[in-house]
Amino acid sequence: MSKFPKRLLAASTAMATALVAWPLIGTSASAAEPHVDNPYAGATQYVNPTWAAAVEGAATRASDPALAAKMRVVKNQPTAVWMDRISAITGNADGNGLRFHLDRALLQKQAGTPLVFNLVIYDLPGRDCYALASNGELPATAAGMARYKTEYIDPIAAILADPKYQGIRIAATIEPDSLPNLITNISHPECQQAAPYYREGVKYALDKLHAIPNVYNYVDAAHSGWLGWDANAGPAAKLFAGVARTTAAGYASIDGFVTNTANTTPLVEPYLPNSSLTVGGNPIRSSKFYEWNSDFDEIDWTAHLYNLLVAEGFPASTGMLVDTSRNGWGGAARPTAASSSTDLNTYVDQSRVDRRIHRGAWCNPLGAGIGERPQATPAGYPASHLDAFVWIKPPGESDGASTDIPNDQGKRFDRMCDPTFVSPKLGNQLTGASPDAPLAGQWFESQFVELVRNAYPVIGGGGTSDQVAPSVPSGLQAGTVTSTSVALSWTASTDNVGVTGYDIYRGTTLAGSSTTTSFTATGLTANTTYSFTVRAKDAAGNVSAASTALPVTTSNTNNPPGGCRVTYSANSWSTGFTGSIKLTNTSTTPLTNWRLVFSFANGQTVQQGWNAVWSQTGSTVTGSATPGSWNATIAPGGTVDIGFNGTHTGTNTAPTAFSVSGQACSIG
Ligand code: GLC
Repeated sequence: MSKFPKRLLAASTAMATALVAWPLIGTSASAAEPHVDNPYAGATQYVNPTWAAAVEGAATRASDPALAAKMRVVKNQPTAVWMDRISAITGNADGNGLRFHLDRALLQKQAGTPLVFNLVIYDLPGRDCYALASNGELPATAAGMARYKTEYIDPIAAILADPKYQGIRIAATIEPDSLPNLITNISHPECQQAAPYYREGVKYALDKLHAIPNVYNYVDAAHSGWLGWDANAGPAAKLFAGVARTTAAGYASIDGFVTNTANTTPLVEPYLPNSSLTVGGNPIRSSKFYEWNSDFDEIDWTAHLYNLLVAEGFPASTGMLVDTSRNGWGGAARPTAASSSTDLNTYVDQSRVDRRIHRGAWCNPLGAGIGERPQATPAGYPASHLDAFVWIKPPGESDGASTDIPNDQGKRFDRMCDPTFVSPKLGNQLTGASPDAPLAGQWFESQFVELVRNAYPVIGGGGTSDQVAPSVPSGLQAGTVTSTSVALSWTASTDNVGVTGYDIYRGTTLAGSSTTTSFTATGLTANTTYSFTVRAKDAAGNVSAASTALPVTTSNTNNPPGGCRVTYSANSWSTGFTGSIKLTNTSTTPLTNWRLVFSFANGQTVQQGWNAVWSQTGSTVTGSATPGSWNATIAPGGTVDIGFNGTHTGTNTAPTAFSVSGQACSIG
């Protein structure tokens, strides 16, 4: 990276100007910093004392000394300072202002060693257009745009241009999620409305900040699970180039790009190094989890993006940052080898370190851990042109509230942050979000504890002595399910010492934790899906990471024995077939929010279907009504027609048993 100094001329001019303008400080630690190719090379980074104090608070409250020690290691790591609203510039109830931090950065800077200050520019009009959790204060209107320029960017630029700070290298992350939303979410009305303001606002920020020689612009470039597909990556590179060309300095106004901001996509999937590997005859990129996206991790994405950017005209010196603050995925749930399964999806699911249910699960995902520590020019990934690993999202700060919390920042309740929500954006699966989350940006201590515990690389050197919490219980399963209760059981945590009991979570911790490996959750509502997880506790109060979530649907009191009839037919060709089902309510009461379950005997796989929400786990297929939809209720004697397209190899035997809410249906 340092092979291509990009603004040597501009930098030396700036230095000369600085010396003329402020000759008296030329010899102090504040000597003007020339603009270099990679600001992180040879530099330390600013440690935010406000964030460090929050971490120290958590360490003080941690009853386990080993965990507290790890937190105190984390406390000394550099994290970015977010300007997430106008009042953040001067400081507000949530934190100190920009000058406070820059003044402390001056104190932290050691003579002779450059220091990078990571700053996040995040207040565009119509912010977070495809989500709600980080909606902002400025509307996507011309008036909002005017305020963005005069009340937000201009004052920030004025502070950064203060000669007092010319000796600090300021790396600005420019507007997380904004331009990426214009690639994938432009059909969403809020994003359509915001689009011109995102382009204009990013251009304005780039122009104003690039004009300050010691500021470096890194434009947010989402992550591999968002833009990795060729159909997204190419247009994204073109959009970045298009915006760059509208700036006064053109491509030079952008020093690089930052990926994975506030996300948990792994840096590397060590057991899935080749997306073309075939399992069961199909490339692993065609698995459900990767959906034909060849970029499995941020190393793939940065290398892919770099090539596209250079082809668009960006200079070879363009550098990449990866936010590794929360993409570690360590802990007991981390696989240690590639799977030996011959089933494509099983292979992928058992091999990937990313333990999310879906790559779109962005809000406070359970199981994530702190990732690589911030470092300059990380070795080993030449094609990715990495300037540094950075911690842009401060670990312990929430992504969004898990319930609706009133506030004056414009932030709203996004159901992606609600652990009880089954999201259509995640293939109709539960979000996997952490329970009890506060508003985006607020300190979220239980998540911080989990991030520290699940860190990978482990904090403090590794080895079994590093383990501070019991291992995760496994094999969570449901026994008897009634309309109001679910009997759960699981396999004990493998720790041979210390486990004193288990907490059972369903959105929040259920009352009455268990000292054995079973528990019955009661007081539930009929025909409702609940997600349960279990965590092991030890005597010191350490709690393991959550077990794999188990969704359970309580039984439907609407469907008495013998209350349904199914007619099944299949129209097959070589490897495909269409399955058609008529589901009749043969009882005398309406059948509401029905959920039909059956099994295939020959490995048949449902691809997509109609008139029901389809899912398949192993051989078991579920087709359920969308609550509130036109066919969600079947009147007595009434029938719904539902169906799907599937694949089979060889035999395609019809299922021999169908049930609705646990009650067998007659066939014919
Ligand atoms: C979120 C919040 C923002 C906060 C940032 C860092 O994006 O919306 O307020 O500063 O995260 O935690």
